[in-house]
Amino acid sequence: MAFPHLSEVLKILDGALKSNATMSTNYAGLLADKLEQDGERETAVRIRERLARAPTAVAHTQDASRISAGLPVDQESRLDTVDVSAPVKGAVTLHLPGGTANRITEFLQSVRHYDRLRAAQAALPLRLLLYGLPGTGKTQTARWIAGELELPLLTVRCDTLISSLLGQTSKNLRRVFDYVEQRPCVLFLDEFDALASARGNERDVGELQRVVIALLQNIDALSENTIVLAASNHERLLDPAVWRRFPFQLPLPLPDHELRLSMWKAMLGPFVPVNLNLEAVSTKSDGASGALIELVAMDTKRQAILAGKPQVDEGELFRRLALAMALGQGETLASLGDEICWLRKWDAKIFSIRELARLYSVSTRQINHLIQGNHGNAGKSPRKR
Ligand SMILES: Nc1ncnc2c1ncn2[C@@H]1O[C@H](COP(=O)(O)OP(=O)(O)O)[C@@H](O)[C@H]1O
Ligand SMILES: [Mg+2]
Repeated sequence: MAFPHLSEVLKILDGALKSNATMSTNYAGLLADKLEQDGERETAVRIRERLARAPTAVAHTQDASRISAGLPVDQESRLDTVDVSAPVKGAVTLHLPGGTANRITEFLQSVRHYDRLRAAQAALPLRLLLYGLPGTGKTQTARWIAGELELPLLTVRCDTLISSLLGQTSKNLRRVFDYVEQRPCVLFLDEFDALASARGNERDVGELQRVVIALLQNIDALSENTIVLAASNHERLLDPAVWRRFPFQLPLPLPDHELRLSMWKAMLGPFVPVNLNLEAVSTKSDGASGALIELVAMDTKRQAILAGKPQVDEGELFRRLALAMALGQGETLASLGDEICWLRKWDAKIFSIRELARLYSVSTRQINHLIQGNHGNAGKSPRKR
């Protein structure tokens, strides 16, 4: 049988060899937690007693405020290049298709049983690349994973990182990775395609390339059981050098009908009127991302609350959905006439003249007038940006 918790023991040893007390104590704390979970309470207590006596008593912590002490800060802008959060298990909701959820579970299993897998030479480096359109839940998934693992999440926004590194040495970058190596956590490289676009950017290519290469080298230098997540909106921009470094790859699709239905239900909650046809709402939101659904649900809910209503208004929900989808498709609806014509085109049955008059608190005559006023554009699709 594999030696239990070998990873933690090795990290404690690494810390000792590097004279890095923070690293040793962090991992000793984690070891105590794991032993306690295994029912080895007495052993855990002995380790914790020893930690309490350590000169730099920085025992293992999952507390974001304590962990953020000593965070790498960008020298010039004084901005944190890393954001630390402590997502709580069960507090982050994810709506993902069954297959996608299974693959995330598989990744979590690989993390939890890393030592056993490693002993059988069946372990993969714990690197997961999330990719998909904006608003499909990549950042949310990273938070969920950290919550499930009960580890702090260190988010590095690669676009900011790259701009902050230009014209500087890569010392800052080194500090981020040193920091990650010293404590149990999840490193999350968000907006990862900034690396790829940096490569194609004509402005000072050499300099950018140096930064990108340094980042990739730093990832390589991490031990294989350091958990690294990365998210990208433009997977086609990522080159093979990047893909190779992530044995776990997870596409996040736009939600299908069923998933949209459960999102609407969850996000509107008790604000769903009894007679609301959620099936129709789901059908009409085909092509919408989770982020868009959330935005529309929140806006409509807010409006109901401010109007002192216990439930959302169905017409208002459709109106906000139609307008949000117009925006998502790059349509500019500059005037009220444009807006009304778009709604008519989107669904003339939902947006009857009478319903539009009610929604905009004007007369049906005025609605007709607005539609006719826009006649110049009729037949054509609304102007594209
Ligand atoms: N699959 C999903 N499950 C749950 N919430 C989602 C999902 N997709 C999007 N959201 C919601 O939309 C918001 C934006 O999603 P985010 O994870 O930031 O998207 P991305 O990082 O892919 O651009 C989140 O705050 C979340 O509440
Ligand atoms: Mg994101």
